[in-house]
Amino acid sequence: MRIAVLASGKGSNFQNLVNLSRDGILDIEIIKLITNKSNAGCINKAISSKIRYEVINDKDFKTSEEFEYQIINALSNNQIELIVLAGWMKILSERFVNSFKNRIINIHPSLLPSFKGNKAIERAFINKSLITGCSVHFVVPEVDSGELIVQAALAIKSDENIEDLKEKIHSLEHIILPQGISEAGLIIRS
Ligand code: GAR
Repeated sequence: MRIAVLASGKGSNFQNLVNLSRDGILDIEIIKLITNKSNAGCINKAISSKIRYEVINDKDFKTSEEFEYQIINALSNNQIELIVLAGWMKILSERFVNSFKNRIINIHPSLLPSFKGNKAIERAFINKSLITGCSVHFVVPEVDSGELIVQAALAIKSDENIEDLKEKIHSLEHIILPQGISEAGLIIRS
């Protein structure tokens, strides 16, 4: 399946997908990485993995329409079947989401519908949740609200520290995002 990855951060999920694709474990071709941050860690990962990438910095555009139009342009003519948001921290407009209807998935570091939005791990931790986790879901215009594809849960131990919790959730993300891509691929191609 031909995929594009949108990421704003260090890109551990992106790197994991690159590795699984390279090793023939996940039948995907990562056509392009798009990031909105010129200093994002995912850029170096794309360079060292020889994946095409493009920096489309939202700060360079007067409006979010122009910013998103540039992303749509960068994706067009590439026969992209699925867009994967892997640590993409910009909310996408209804217009954008509808132009790739049911073909965008997102990984989120909470057990949705709990803790939508930013700093989800921190909020679950501060809230003293007993269980948290991560979710892969289809993207709809309402933030972190689309149909769930796969989730993973873990207990937050009473003596857990936030850094350990983040690491555990990232490890789970590296398991469920590939699963979510496979599931989404089956749905998209059915
Ligand atoms: C991941 O934990 C992902 O769930 C989160 O950003 C991190 C990116 O890590 N996404 C969101 O919070 C989206 N709302 P990575 O850059 O190492 O893949």
